[in-house]
Amino acid sequence: MLRLQAPVDRVEPQRAERAALALSRALGDSKVDVSERGRAAFSRDESEARGEVPDVVVHASSADDVAETLRIASEHEVPVTPRAGGTGRTGGAVPVAAGLVLATHGMTGIVEIDRDDLVAVVEPGVVLDDLWTAVEREGLFYGPDPNSSASCCLGGNIAENAGGPRAFKYGVTRDWVLGLDVVTMDGARLTTGRRTAKGVTGYDLTALLVGSEGTLAVTTRATLRLMRRPPETATLLALFGDVHAAGRAVLAVLGSGAVPRCVELLDRQTLDAVRAAGNPIDPRAGAMLLLEVDGEPLHVEREAEKVGGAASDAGALEVLVAQDAAKRERLWAARRTMSPAVRKLARHKLSEDVVVPRSRVPRLLDEVDRLRELHGVGMLTYGHAGDGNLHTNFLWNDDDELPRVEGAIEGLFRAVVALGGTLSGEHGIGVLKAPYLGLEQSPELIDAQLRIKRALDPRGLLNPGKIFWPASHRAC
Ligand code: LAC
Ligand code: ZN
Repeated sequence: MLRLQAPVDRVEPQRAERAALALSRALGDSKVDVSERGRAAFSRDESEARGEVPDVVVHASSADDVAETLRIASEHEVPVTPRAGGTGRTGGAVPVAAGLVLATHGMTGIVEIDRDDLVAVVEPGVVLDDLWTAVEREGLFYGPDPNSSASCCLGGNIAENAGGPRAFKYGVTRDWVLGLDVVTMDGARLTTGRRTAKGVTGYDLTALLVGSEGTLAVTTRATLRLMRRPPETATLLALFGDVHAAGRAVLAVLGSGAVPRCVELLDRQTLDAVRAAGNPIDPRAGAMLLLEVDGEPLHVEREAEKVGGAASDAGALEVLVAQDAAKRERLWAARRTMSPAVRKLARHKLSEDVVVPRSRVPRLLDEVDRLRELHGVGMLTYGHAGDGNLHTNFLWNDDDELPRVEGAIEGLFRAVVALGGTLSGEHGIGVLKAPYLGLEQSPELIDAQLRIKRALDPRGLLNPGKIFWPASHRAC
């Protein structure tokens, strides 16, 4: 069942106090915040997950600070919640056992951008937009594009294996991380992976660490793959009578041989929210697709023709194309204003990020309609239809509606698994999806992951309460 809080015991405050004293001696008072005001801001992230106010916040400015913090926390047996931008959607950076928050957003160094090797080396507190600006100045490109790019940091992107609209063509964060410098809970430093284009030495610990939601180690530096910046982009907006027509168009577009970088879908309820926010959209439209193609100018022209033609043939009511930046921005307006428009609909909004095989997107949306009726819960869906990765949002105002919301969420997850899908395509499991992990993964698979966890963090001090809940809470 949906739980906004993890069933994890709070650490004894005396233990955290002793760790705070040792940390102040080791790092200096300026990096160790025990003030009420300083700590309060670190109990939540951008999800509905509810955490404790931590006992102490460490503001790390170097890998040495991170290593020293983990060593001292280990010695005093105090749980540590690593945090970068705090923009997570599943509670990954929420301290559920109180203790210590290890904030790395002050580690903002872009250490290197190498145009020949196509590599960037960054610290975990670099804001994604700042990395884009720096690499684009060199004519280069970094693919992952979570919508929170103005505030999310690379450390969190790596922890959650973040994706975004461009993932259809360019993949998710894991596809761009070549190597990592990390510190494990005992203070040991590891350098994983490589900075070469190829490399198959040993186990791929880099791939394991990316997406491990801060439960195995804390990133202090990342070596990222870059590519040359695609010179041209075109955006297409296509309107359809309903999501089934839009779903058929997605398959037709991809079947045409075109490789768009984004294939975004907005359903009828989402369009209604965007209309209510003052965005005029053809009243006949019950679904919208936003598609982008990029590359050399001639290629973009041909791809845009293929995509537009396939959408029209599949029954689009209207297809608009834009190539210059201002016009493209106008086409994106509905998608960009959507999140605030949806926020206005209710006091609480929980956005899931389920994935189904792309051919089954319309069937999933039928399930969403059924669950909305059955549970009487506000639900709408938008997202990355090319990947089959959809954000079904649940809306509610008061806690007494939670049992109905829970029923609808569990129904969604069961439907997703039955359709051959997975619970998370971008936001991770965190606190909010932990109770449902057993719907998708076998006890043996969960146990294998817990054995890896115990090998790196035997006492379970690093980011407790995330991904895996205690066995007694796992059944559902
Ligand atoms: C998005 C985020 C929420 O796609 O993943 O809008
Ligand atoms: Zn998304």
